[in-house]
Amino acid sequence: MPTRHYPQISTPPIESDTEFLTAFQDHEFDRDFPEDIYQQSACHWTPLDVCQMAAQMLVEKPGTRVLDIGCGPGKFCAIGATATLGHFTGVEQRSRLVKAARELLDRHRITRVEIIHANITTVSFEAFDAFYLFNPFEENILPMLRIDHDVEMQPQLYDDYTLHVQQQLELKPLGTRIVTYYGSCAEVPECYTCIKTAYDGTLKLWEKTLSHLEDADADSPPAPCRFPHLV
Ligand SMILES: C[S@@+](CC[C@H](N)C(=O)[O-])C[C@H]1O[C@@H](n2cnc3c(N)ncnc32)[C@H](O)[C@@H]1O
Repeated sequence: MPTRHYPQISTPPIESDTEFLTAFQDHEFDRDFPEDIYQQSACHWTPLDVCQMAAQMLVEKPGTRVLDIGCGPGKFCAIGATATLGHFTGVEQRSRLVKAARELLDRHRITRVEIIHANITTVSFEAFDAFYLFNPFEENILPMLRIDHDVEMQPQLYDDYTLHVQQQLELKPLGTRIVTYYGSCAEVPECYTCIKTAYDGTLKLWEKTLSHLEDADADSPPAPCRFPHLV
């Protein structure tokens, strides 16, 4: 997990989407959030340059629909939509982060982004082409990563959420892309292959290379689950 220390700097005024992307250093961008959310940036929100690269890995053509699974205050979606021609949806379970994300988008008039206030287990992945995950569920099993006490935390929830995401991703067509930043990547099913890495291997691009049916029809037994305790 990256640890950064930021100087106190005031946010520059931004006039347009393009300026938004080029005007900020990472620490300046995070200063734009309310203080409590800013304080959690180093540990919990993806750095600006990583957001740009991840979005560019996911958006293969204009209009690619990207889902950020656990979007926090919307940093990846906001930067993704200004760095690419994709459409970004963030789903987030904490209302204060949803509010901050929507305010960020309004303040900078960023289009092609939607923030949904929901638990990921209620979201179908049918409407999306590509997926981004930065440690969404680890706080259920690693108390040091706990963001706040606003939502229930339990080790069982880590398994439930991870299994839901695995199952939804398994149903996606061949060629579907996922980017993960840090984390165990337990949400990524076996039918996806890691095809590229960056930032010392912490950023991973995955592509679906095996169909579900191919797996099921094969004479050999199915590939072992990466995390057997989840089956
Ligand atoms: C480490 S943060 C990453 C935020 C953002 N994706 C980024 O990269 O900047 C993980 C986020 O996932 C959210 N989250 C965790 N479990 C969730 C769930 N079951 N449904 C929706 N959001 C969830 C958390 O509230 C947190 O904001």
